[in-house]
Amino acid sequence: MSSIDRYAVIGHGVGHSRSPQIHGLFAQSTGQSMQYGLIDVPAADFAAAARDFFAGGGRGLNVTVPHKEAARSLAERLTPRARRAGAVNTLALGAESDARALLGDNTDGAGLVRDLTVNLGYALTGTRVLLLGAGGAARGVIAPLLQGGVGELMIHNRTPARAQQLAREFADLGAKAFGDGADGGGYDLIINATSASLRGELPSVPQAACDTRTICYDLAYGSSETVFVRWARAAGAAGAIMGLGMLVEQAAESFLLWRGVRPDTAPVLAILRQGTAG
Ligand code: ATR
Repeated sequence: MSSIDRYAVIGHGVGHSRSPQIHGLFAQSTGQSMQYGLIDVPAADFAAAARDFFAGGGRGLNVTVPHKEAARSLAERLTPRARRAGAVNTLALGAESDARALLGDNTDGAGLVRDLTVNLGYALTGTRVLLLGAGGAARGVIAPLLQGGVGELMIHNRTPARAQQLAREFADLGAKAFGDGADGGGYDLIINATSASLRGELPSVPQAACDTRTICYDLAYGSSETVFVRWARAAGAAGAIMGLGMLVEQAAESFLLWRGVRPDTAPVLAILRQGTAG
C-alpha cells in the first residue's frame, strides 16, 4: 500500500470539481506529502464508497452535494459545529485524540463567513439575509452567519416545510422561515444554497427580495456565470458573486483539520480566478 496519505472529494456530478487542484496547491505551498482524488457516486452508493475509501487507507474526504446529511450519519464523532449544522462536509480519520473514530466536521459556514468578511470586506453585522435552500449546504451556513453578526435570517425553500423545519432547529439563534414573519423586500444579502445552479436552474426567489442594495451570493460556482448570478445582475443587485472564494476557504479549514496547518488562500484563489468568471 502507498505510504502517501490519501484524500478525495466525494459527491455526485463532481467531475468538474476544483477541489483536487485546490488541495494540490495547498499541499505544494505547505510542503505536505499527500494525494487528492475525486469520487463520483450517487446517493445510494455513498456510504459504501466512503467506507471502502477509509478501509483502504484513506485519511480524509471532502463531502459535497448530495451527501452532506448522509455523511453526518456515517461519522462516528462530530465536531460541535457539525453537530449544530446537522450536516458534514469533511470526514477525517486519525484526526484529534481518538485515531480510530471517523470524525465529521462542517467547514462550509466558516468558509462562507471568511470569504464574505475577509476576502470581500463585507460587514455582516446587523444585515438582513435571505437564505435559499434547506438541504445540507444551507444547514452548514446558518449558525456561522447568525453567530457572525447577521441581524435577521429568513430561510426560503421550494418545499416550504423543509424551511420551516430548519427554522425551528435554529430558532434559538434567531432563524425564521420565509412567510412566518416580516418578509419585507430588499434584503442586504441573498445566499443561494440550493443545488439548482448545478442543473442550470434558477431557484424561486420571492418577488421584491432583490433591489439595488442587495448582494447576491451563489454557493455554487462554474466556469461561466450561474443562472442565479445572471438573474441577480438582471434584477439590478449591487453585487453578484459565485462561491469560488468560499470553496477555497472551506477547503483550507478542512486542510487544517487533516494536516494541522492552515494554508494561505489568497494565492490559490488568484490562480483559480484566472480560469473562471468567479
Ligand atoms: P445540498 O447538500 O447541496 O444542500 P440537498 O440536501 O439535496 O443538497 O438540498 C438541495 C436543496 O436545493 C433543497 O433545498 C432543494 O429544494 P427542495 O427541498 O424543495 O428539494 C433545493 N433545490 C434543488 N433544485 C432546486 C430548484 N430547481 N429550484 C429550487 N430549489 C431547488
